[in-house]
Amino acid sequence: MPLRVIQWATGNQGVEAIRAVAERPDLELVGGWVHSAGKDGADLGTLAGIDPLGVRATRDLDEVLAIEADCVCYLPRNTSLDEVVALLASGKNVVTTAFLFHPRTLPPADLERLLAACERGGSTIHGSGLNPGNLSGVLPLALSGMSRRIDRLTLQERADWSFYESTHITFDNMRFGCAPEEVSEEASDFLRFNSGIFQEEVKLLADALGAGIDEIVTDVDLVLAREDHDIFGTVLRAGTVAGQRWHWQGRRQGRTLVEIDALWTVGGEYPSHWPTPADGWTLTIEGDPSMRAHFLALGSWERPLPMAEHVRAASIATAMQVVNAIPAVCRAAPGIATMADLPLIRSGVGFGFAPPHPAG
Ligand SMILES: NC(=O)c1ccc[n+]([C@@H]2O[C@H](COP(=O)([O-])OP(=O)(O)OC[C@H]3O[C@@H](n4cnc5c(N)ncnc54)[C@H](OP(=O)(O)O)[C@@H]3O)[C@@H](O)[C@H]2O)c1
Repeated sequence: MPLRVIQWATGNQGVEAIRAVAERPDLELVGGWVHSAGKDGADLGTLAGIDPLGVRATRDLDEVLAIEADCVCYLPRNTSLDEVVALLASGKNVVTTAFLFHPRTLPPADLERLLAACERGGSTIHGSGLNPGNLSGVLPLALSGMSRRIDRLTLQERADWSFYESTHITFDNMRFGCAPEEVSEEASDFLRFNSGIFQEEVKLLADALGAGIDEIVTDVDLVLAREDHDIFGTVLRAGTVAGQRWHWQGRRQGRTLVEIDALWTVGGEYPSHWPTPADGWTLTIEGDPSMRAHFLALGSWERPLPMAEHVRAASIATAMQVVNAIPAVCRAAPGIATMADLPLIRSGVGFGFAPPHPAG
């Protein structure tokens, strides 16, 4: 029996999840939630640019709750703990790329609600993706298997958001194009939320690797645009924020042990005072032995492709990390299943010539 999946939101990642689920014999799409009024009632296949699947999208949470399903693939732009609690309590497992990467760090009242919902529904919650996700959770833990001792673990992400076709996230949520005083954890609920999910990643690694950190320090360095830039039809004005370096450091007695260093720009003006790793993600483990891995998600190695295709590759990778996790999450014990708890998530299709042997 295929696992029945509900797709929650059909943005960059949601459409990739729909395409993947539609192709898999072990998964079946049985419902979908959309935020946009214009998509209400539309066929999920049509929304994902493939043949109709005979499954209609709804904007109504109660309708979604009434659907018999094994898992919800929760990929909205803005998150709601209330929604996730309702989904879990209705007996549906939840995988998400949007939050809940290390729910044990939630404020106690929220954690209690989440766990009570899991207990009531016999369900499991798993947050992952690319970063936060595989590169800041799964990969460091996998590489740590080759370590005798770890002294410091650093993930640097260098990305130009100009190619990310979600101007809402770039401008409204991340506040690129705003005045510098509007870009901080204090000035924006979303930036505080976003910073929180990377702090969760630092804590997840620190907990899983016994770093015993006693604080997480967050620094932000903002850089202003020297000229105007057109980003998918929205103008980022000279003098507004075009670079944000967010640096989250997990420290023990003042010494940084686990850090995520996000070097984010829009418009290609890379500041000369920032470090200059290659584009993409660079994971460095200092210790015995020291090791470094560089990750890029690409549309293809074979032929030149528009940058948008390479950026789309990152959305595919993000969505696949949780789609591929669905069988393991459905098998997991009720409650929280983090990247450190689940078995290694592998491709559910692989080469596609034979059914992959189920992991875990
Ligand atoms: N973990 C990672 O590695 C990683 C990486 C990148 C992004 N993310 C996160 O993953 C999620 C999905 O990213 P994406 O690129 O697919 O986002 P997106 O394309 O900007 O938006 C996703 C969808 O969310 C729905 N939506 C729009 N406004 C909303 C609102 N106010 N409240 C709730 N939902 C709303 C829309 O669904 P409909 O179109 O169906 O109406 C939209 O298409 C986001 O939370 C993003 O921050 C995670």
